[in-house]
Amino acid sequence: MPLPKAELHLHIEGTLEPELAFALAARNGVTLPYADTEELRKAYEFADLQSFLNLYYGLMAVLRTEDDFADLADAYLARAAAQGVRHAEIFFDPQAHLARGVGMGTVVAGLGRALDRSEAVHGVSTQLIMCFLRDESAGSAMETLEAAKPYLAPRGPIIGVGLDSAEVGHPPAKFAEVYGAAAALGLRRVAHAGEEGPPAYITEALDVLGAERIDHGLRCMEDPELVDRLVRDRVPLTLCPLSNVRLRAVDVLAEHPLPKMLDAGLLCTVNSDDPAYFGGYAGDNFRAVREALGLSPERLRELARNSFVASFLEHDEERRARYIAEVEAYEFR
Ligand code: ADE
Ligand code: ZN
Repeated sequence: MPLPKAELHLHIEGTLEPELAFALAARNGVTLPYADTEELRKAYEFADLQSFLNLYYGLMAVLRTEDDFADLADAYLARAAAQGVRHAEIFFDPQAHLARGVGMGTVVAGLGRALDRSEAVHGVSTQLIMCFLRDESAGSAMETLEAAKPYLAPRGPIIGVGLDSAEVGHPPAKFAEVYGAAAALGLRRVAHAGEEGPPAYITEALDVLGAERIDHGLRCMEDPELVDRLVRDRVPLTLCPLSNVRLRAVDVLAEHPLPKMLDAGLLCTVNSDDPAYFGGYAGDNFRAVREALGLSPERLRELARNSFVASFLEHDEERRARYIAEVEAYEFR
């Protein structure tokens, strides 16, 4: 039995496996610029975040109908469950679909269908977070929030907002207004910061956007005062070790700062980001850090506990306590 964990940094579009991409392409009459899954997989050599994003947005062309989004999420939840994920807070990128003529209603209805039955089918509780693309305008983000209004919790499945896509040159402050509007609507707030961008983007995400969790946050280690603040305020960081290697944020996994970050007292979690592209799901990331960084069973338990502490389960503290009890009772073999 795998260690129970929550997945807090997962782009549903990044779970599109080559086999499903080709199946959806055939179903929707979309021609992909790759002969087969093998040729597609060979293209998964990334120099940086942008080179990944180009392929990631391109492959989304196969996602067109409500069924496509339901099938995508269902496949992810089955894989996640098999790797011990008990709770998933799932990101999606509405602007990437709206730009292709796929409506918010189609995307949310499809994802929502898979999420609604997830607990019964996979034993995984779920929440949905919509991300704004930071390389699009602030106005576009505000229009996206407006389009999402019928689908916001408690009426709909969307419980929060995030910020993703190309980081450098797109500081968080650009999105101050839309994050203010999201907060006024009662939405939770997270933001990618300090993946490729400088530590100052992390500070800005906290101060200007009111971010409650930082996605990645790796580069906080360059600023000791920021580390002190993150430790003091117990700000969760959703790290994605395999992603960091594949997008060259770190050279090799053995040099990942995760052990130093835990030693510093940071509230770190381990997640998969875009598992279909980066070589593994949540459990694979846990196994990778155990093997490459020699993390002890107690460190792994801490990471799993942190994932539930950092999750947005305030509406169901009983559930959070139950999940944490499962972590504490877990016996490592
Ligand atoms: N969108 C999907 N994955 C991402 C990542 N790792 N960073 C920024 N935007 C993303
Ligand atoms: Zn991400």
